[in-house]
Amino acid sequence: MGETYTLITGAASGFGRSIAQKLAPSRKLVLADINAEKLETVRKTCAAPERHLVWARDLSRLEGIDEELASFLAAKNIQIDHFVHSAGIFGIQFVRANEMAFVNRLFNINVFSAMQIIRPLAQKRVNQGALRSITFISAIGSRIGGKGYYVYSASKGAVNAMSLSLAVELAPGVRVNAVLPGTIETEMSRDYFADPDFVASIQAIHPLGLGRAEDVADAVEFLSSDRARWITGQELVVDGGRFASKTPSLKGIN
Ligand SMILES: NC(=O)c1ccc[n+]([C@@H]2O[C@H](COP(=O)([O-])OP(=O)(O)OC[C@H]3O[C@@H](n4cnc5c(N)ncnc54)[C@H](OP(=O)(O)O)[C@@H]3O)[C@@H](O)[C@H]2O)c1
Repeated sequence: MGETYTLITGAASGFGRSIAQKLAPSRKLVLADINAEKLETVRKTCAAPERHLVWARDLSRLEGIDEELASFLAAKNIQIDHFVHSAGIFGIQFVRANEMAFVNRLFNINVFSAMQIIRPLAQKRVNQGALRSITFISAIGSRIGGKGYYVYSASKGAVNAMSLSLAVELAPGVRVNAVLPGTIETEMSRDYFADPDFVASIQAIHPLGLGRAEDVADAVEFLSSDRARWITGQELVVDGGRFASKTPSLKGIN
């Protein structure tokens, strides 16, 4: 058995990078993303950069992800104890457009690549039973409807449902949870946040004001730590109160 690492997809940007920087002082990391150069840049910004590894892989191409990950772990003689799936893409698609190429690409990255990664991590011959937790970055878009969101929302709903069943299947050794962030400025949402009217509207619907990528990283750090040892199959909403504020006021005793 080699040393154990936390694997983070989407680590070159946004939430994934923030999660990497949060975990770097206390863990060894495998930083995964599509762009090797960006991964190297992030690795260098992490505490103790020499301890961390990078795995560059296009997760929209599903074939071979499982074998390539298994080979990577074997070549480095390491195992993965925590897996965080933050890689993802977003896009507005209206139902009448029906572009299946977009649907397939989005589902491959947001959902199916995680399945391909989890399979070898759950196999004793590959990962030596080292896996302890899986944390998916979902979205409150899985709970709140929006025009043009149906593909993205469906992918995040799939992530939530996958998380629930995996929590049952992989217990007691592995805990599985999902974090559901509200709208936060990252590279993914940067163009929207460039518009002051958009920022004002986001501020208005989040009772706690604007969120930060670190808010998501804090939730991931907790869920993937032993302090969450009795928490599995849960969806943790990190949205500055946006979802709560949509709940009708309670009348009487509920
Ligand atoms: N930001 C928000 O408001 C928000 C809210 C709720 C949920 N989320 C979710 O949070 C997760 C992280 O989002 P983020 O805001 O941190 O976005 P981000 O900054 O764009 O980070 C996503 C990362 O995934 C990578 N990626 C994209 N396609 C890939 C592929 N084919 N193979 C491997 N990696 C790929 C991106 O690489 P490139 O940039 O090089 O393409 C990027 O580094 C996503 O699942 C997103 O749906 C975001």
